[in-house]
Amino acid sequence: MQTRPIPSSGEALPVIGCGTYVGFDVGANSEKLKTLADVVRTLRDAGGKVFDSSPMYGRAEAVLGDLLAAAPDPERTFIATKVWTRGRQAGITQMERSFALLRIKRIDLMQVHNLLDWQTHLRTLRSWKQDGRIRYLGVTHYTSSAYDELEAVMRKDTLDFVQLNYSLDDRAAERKLLPLATERGIAILVNVPFGGGGLLRRLRNRLLPDWAAEIDCTSWAQILLKFVLAHPAVTCVIPGTGNPAHMADNCRAGTGTLLDAALRKRIIAEWEAGN
Ligand SMILES: NC(=O)c1ccc[n+]([C@@H]2O[C@H](COP(=O)([O-])OP(=O)(O)OC[C@H]3O[C@@H](n4cnc5c(N)ncnc54)[C@H](OP(=O)(O)O)[C@@H]3O)[C@@H](O)[C@H]2O)c1
Repeated sequence: MQTRPIPSSGEALPVIGCGTYVGFDVGANSEKLKTLADVVRTLRDAGGKVFDSSPMYGRAEAVLGDLLAAAPDPERTFIATKVWTRGRQAGITQMERSFALLRIKRIDLMQVHNLLDWQTHLRTLRSWKQDGRIRYLGVTHYTSSAYDELEAVMRKDTLDFVQLNYSLDDRAAERKLLPLATERGIAILVNVPFGGGGLLRRLRNRLLPDWAAEIDCTSWAQILLKFVLAHPAVTCVIPGTGNPAHMADNCRAGTGTLLDAALRKRIIAEWEAGN
């Protein structure tokens, strides 16, 4: 799988990861645990290692922690999770719980979920980064209505990562935030690349374009992920899935030919003409 450097460190990050919202929120004795172990194995076998979770996602952190602890070489992962509460002490308590659920002593990336009380939590995160408890810090959001605030944080603070929404039918981040990330040396994790699944459903009955083979794509999911990765500011995209076949499909987007600027323009034009 292709990798891209995290601007603040130069560390290489594989371009396709796995989001755990919904898919990993299953019971401790669920039949789905075996399937989720296959999702984890599929991503790691393909050379991926980024898993994104949050205390907002029900049992997802606990499930991910159990699966990774049982997987060979658990160190070969990049775990991103979030703090999603108000107040310094409440944030610390919640993040300590994430360490316990994920069963790790160091979290690769801790993000302030939806910018909730970000001033407070970034203070804690800066001190934890210095102490080595986390390796990188950042903030997230999922809607363009938050972009003014996101932009202000990106300008004011020193962030390693910003996680935001970006997809073929939701390109507002191109206007200011993606160029700003490049200017400020901030890595970009892209969430909801399939519009939460709705974008893929809208494309379900459309034939793959004839140029798909030129960019080594055999599915719409791969085309949508390659579209996101074609933006040079993007470091990694984290489609959510609890399905190993979908994980394998998504991983293919991290290999082969990427879209050039001309093809990117063409995809946008074809999408707009069809909608
Ligand atoms: N504010 C925030 O910080 C924030 C907000 C939203 C999301 N996120 C993060 O970003 C991740 C991605 O967002 P998301 O999960 O909401 O939406 P998404 O990635 O746009 O779409 C997920 C949906 O697509 C389906 N899917 C995935 N791969 C597929 C494939 N190859 N073929 C067909 N269907 C496929 C999944 O179903 P299956 O399970 O059946 O594959 C699921 O229903 C989340 O999981 C979460 O980690 C963060």
